Amino acid sequence: MTPAPDAIDRIAPPQLPALLAAMPKAELHMHIEGSLEPEMIFALARRNGVALPYASVDALRQAYAFSDLQSFLDIYYAGASVLLTEQDFYDMARAYLARAATDNVVHAEIFFDPQTHTERGVSMGTVVHGLSRACREAPAQQGVSAALILCFLRHLSEQQAFETLEQALPFRDHFIGVGLDSSEVGHPPEKFARVFARCRELGLHVVAHAGEEGPPDYIWQALDVLRAERIDHGVQAVHDAALMARLAADRVPLTVCPLSNQKLRVFPDLADHNLKALLDAGLMATVNSDDPAYFGGYVNDNFQAVFAATGMTARHAWQLASNSFDASFAPPEDKARWHRQLADVFSRFAAA
Ligand code: ADE
Ligand code: ZN
Repeated sequence: MTPAPDAIDRIAPPQLPALLAAMPKAELHMHIEGSLEPEMIFALARRNGVALPYASVDALRQAYAFSDLQSFLDIYYAGASVLLTEQDFYDMARAYLARAATDNVVHAEIFFDPQTHTERGVSMGTVVHGLSRACREAPAQQGVSAALILCFLRHLSEQQAFETLEQALPFRDHFIGVGLDSSEVGHPPEKFARVFARCRELGLHVVAHAGEEGPPDYIWQALDVLRAERIDHGVQAVHDAALMARLAADRVPLTVCPLSNQKLRVFPDLADHNLKALLDAGLMATVNSDDPAYFGGYVNDNFQAVFAATGMTARHAWQLASNSFDASFAPPEDKARWHRQLADVFSRFAAA
């Protein structure tokens, strides 16, 4: 399945941009509300008669200068206020999936934040049915398989998370798992221990944002208290050697988002990003776009930027794509097919 090691190493640095674009990949960390481009925000605001505090698309785009996670979240939640109908959620997800297909994404596991919508009076059914229809159609329409992961907003209470889970249960078949997102520092994973225990009992997959801005201790809690199967971000793990050893030994996937980390000033200079160090330490890192409409690019833009800044090689590219399949919640036969497609692309570049 893997091309011969020397074949991968024959792929030269000038071939990397084309290789990164062409290789098949899975995207495992993308908030669908973060794929709302300013043009679509304005179009939906017009369609729904929602007033926006920005005069134009350009004025909105100019507000995208963030100092940290919270400064981004304030604008991100405001942007999501234009989403009202099932058609809005469908259109948003369809636009993302069409865009992802152009990056040779073969599979996407998509986060959504229902509390952002239900607290404005939009029903859980409206949200889930719109997103789910786009995911269902994606294999035939875009050649991409897609699944949904419901995220709880960690700045809200445990009680509100339980209520959200209750509202979502009639739609249990429309999502494969749960996650934890929003403002990290001050909202440790253990705050949601009982909600996640219930989700595991329900047979849902469990992931959590941890170690984006927060300390390594939050990653330990995500692993040992929530029993998260993947850590979203996780880049602060490098400050804890025992944690690095645990993540490597247990092959815990980290869904890393380089342009997000740059724009939210986790790594203001992408040359300082630790993705290469994580991979070289044997961790199962992947590359993802987080909120592509806000952070300057989709998944291939993330690959291109972080490779250009940190000097990674074709071997790192192969590892990242391979990890993205293995870290997904897709069936084994799908993973095997994507691995074969990956090997074909690498063999083609090695022979060029
Ligand atoms: N919601 C959307 N993007 C997020 C991020 N990068 N961290 C936490 N919550 C988010
Ligand atoms: Zn995220």
